[in-house]
Amino acid sequence: MSGDFLALAQPGVQQLSPYVPGKPVDELARELDIDPATIVKLASNENPLGASPRALAAIRDELAELTRYPDGNGFALKSLLSSQCGVQLDQVMLGNGSNDILELVARAYLAPGLNAVFSEHAFAVYPIVTQAVGADAHVVPAREWGHDLPAMLKAIDSNTRVVFIANPNNPTGTWFDANALNEFLQDVPERVLVVLDEAYIEYAEGSELPDGLEFLSAYPNLLVSRTFSKAYGLAALRVGYALSSAVVADVLNRVRQPFNVNSLALAAACAALQDTEYLAESRRLNDAGMHQLQEGFRELGLSWIPSRGNFIALDLGQLAAPVYQGLLREGVIVRPVANYGMPNHLRVTIGLPVENTRLLEALAKVLVRG
Ligand SMILES: Cc1ncc(COP(=O)(O)O)c(C=O)c1O
Repeated sequence: MSGDFLALAQPGVQQLSPYVPGKPVDELARELDIDPATIVKLASNENPLGASPRALAAIRDELAELTRYPDGNGFALKSLLSSQCGVQLDQVMLGNGSNDILELVARAYLAPGLNAVFSEHAFAVYPIVTQAVGADAHVVPAREWGHDLPAMLKAIDSNTRVVFIANPNNPTGTWFDANALNEFLQDVPERVLVVLDEAYIEYAEGSELPDGLEFLSAYPNLLVSRTFSKAYGLAALRVGYALSSAVVADVLNRVRQPFNVNSLALAAACAALQDTEYLAESRRLNDAGMHQLQEGFRELGLSWIPSRGNFIALDLGQLAAPVYQGLLREGVIVRPVANYGMPNHLRVTIGLPVENTRLLEALAKVLVRG
């Protein structure tokens, strides 16, 4: 007799709904029987610019070394990050995407009987990693779609070990300023690790969003996580990093896989980090695209949640699923966010100008058809 391997899984895992990614281009191309090149994907907050040429060259150089294990300590990348971020080398920890870091935090600090606090409409991985280790989730109602930091403080109890906050948040794009962050950090008990997820922070340069790194020296219970998947354009390679106290970095290093970031990813991330022109162009393109999309939405009479990321949550004022399906039929993939408690919204990643135009034209058609 075979075992019931669902019932045998850890209780938190049995109840888990897997992460739902954006629909892949090839999948839609197969379904519609059309050329994948004609499809526009604005569904996964990827960088539409393509990878930095310097990152591509670094990957080519690294190919000769494919038989070797990567540097498990990621020395070159950590050195660059430590000097760029103004922290010690032992405060930097690398992840297989910043997703890996979120998971390692849960593995290291959460367990049954303990809990993590995060906001309603927050990034889907927070509930997944919390539940996977059997910990409880304290989900705090959002305020105007964003984090209600004072309410999140109140949700912390003696069993809370981790608070996840994202600035800006995905999928809402909402943000908080330096004062709000400082007040929050001042009041969070010292034994609670605050994970400040800054996956999109590079897009917010020059805005009222604080740089989380400026709070690290004052708050040893703060961990800032960042990624090369968004503004650095390397989503496929899976590289993220955490900046924290040396103690927290040491703990996370104990539970990560020995070679969690591969050598092509390490080489590309080093090159991308030094390609300041690429980053500037990513920002410029994003700012222009944000403007273009907002203008287009306004003309279509649609509203949206103001965003500081590379995406916008569009409010359709009605169930968004039929519009999502209609857009798919037009060859445009966006992201439904009903699983985030936002059934009337669609999250749209800012694309190249031609891609944004395709989306706006497709939206106009689909909305007219009703
Ligand atoms: C808020 C937020 N955090 C973390 C991630 C994880 O990204 P990655 O694992 O590619 O670094 C994402 C990806 O969409 C995100 O939106």
